[in-house]
Amino acid sequence: MPRLSDRVQKFTDSVIRRMTRISDEYGAINLSQGFPDFDPPKEIMDALAKVAYEGPHQYPITFGAENFREALARKQSKAAGRTINPETEIVVTCGGTEAMMATMMTIVNPGDKVMVFSPFYENYGADAILSGAEPIYIPLVPPTYEFDINLIEEGFKQGAKAIIICNPSNPCGKVFSREELMAIGELVLKYDAFAVTDEVYEHMVYAPNVHTCMASLPGMYEHTITCNSLSKTFSITGWRLGYVIGPEDVIENCKKVHDFLTVGAAAPLQEAATVGLNFPDSYYEELLATYTEKRAYFLEGLDRIGLKHNIPQGTYFVMVDISDFLALPQFEGYSDLEFCEWMIRNIGVASVPGSSFFKEPVNNLIRLHFAREKSTIDEAISRLSKLQELLK
Ligand SMILES: Cc1ncc(COP(=O)(O)O)c(C=O)c1O
Repeated sequence: MPRLSDRVQKFTDSVIRRMTRISDEYGAINLSQGFPDFDPPKEIMDALAKVAYEGPHQYPITFGAENFREALARKQSKAAGRTINPETEIVVTCGGTEAMMATMMTIVNPGDKVMVFSPFYENYGADAILSGAEPIYIPLVPPTYEFDINLIEEGFKQGAKAIIICNPSNPCGKVFSREELMAIGELVLKYDAFAVTDEVYEHMVYAPNVHTCMASLPGMYEHTITCNSLSKTFSITGWRLGYVIGPEDVIENCKKVHDFLTVGAAAPLQEAATVGLNFPDSYYEELLATYTEKRAYFLEGLDRIGLKHNIPQGTYFVMVDISDFLALPQFEGYSDLEFCEWMIRNIGVASVPGSSFFKEPVNNLIRLHFAREKSTIDEAISRLSKLQELLK
């Protein structure tokens, strides 16, 4: 067989998505890949049913259907603190996943350095390889996930063209404070670079933490490319609707990348989801209330069964410390990945090994999520309680 490209040899399939497949195989409760087990808002489902008969069914405008972009611009202008032009400053993509890939393809030349916090959302590793970027990793140090701003300046001194900021952060749940973003922003401006933000969990930020949009900070709009998605906000991860917002000349070029990658996100789904983008603010308040309650419920459950965990400031992910289990003779030599596989088979709960997010050799954390109905959380906690018996 002819040789395949070198780039595909440099990364594996997604461990997150692999965990879901193994979970399905064993009928486990899947707390690995982050998606809810409850329905999207009824208004969106009703709109989808209507679209089935009334259309549109053909190609949308490549960079997004007009009404979808207009609704999006109205919603996101509030977050960005300025009026976003739906014609020139938005590209609608196939999920936040394509938003990040298209952004990287737009700004990176092979060999360009890009800073990525570690732990990082798995996709960024592959995005860097596919776009030819050379990542410089900036540690977010557990358990508080703080970072050293000097390392970021060092990265810019080495010529980094951009820094990717996942805010709120998957997997560690960190919400970057306004002060932290200001400090990073100052360096972005000083070194004439880009801040690329991934804000797909913008509406899951738990009090007293507050979401700050990097693009809204003084002087930052021209230097910020915001990647975002409807997946989590409207519980429609399967619809694959995302977007990039940025300054005009970036977006003009990003539109070209997007056009040749995918032509466009599904027209009927853009039409139906426009209903969601027009929801009043109370929708987002209720969403946050729901997730705040789920977070408390899940964390209480973990505390009850004695599992050590962080307290996420945002997102619906929790990092659980498995050091005590890995120290048991029966798990000698186990990697976190092997422990997760064992847990699927023997405990009936799927999680993601922390090592798939860290550049550093971290082997003692696993990621679980709580975007589940309470009854599913109850069952998951009951199954996880069997872990404690191992320590007796
Ligand atoms: C941080 C982050 N960015 C992007 C995505 C991908 O979002 P989408 O479903 O819109 O492609 C995810 C999905 O889990 C995520 O956690």
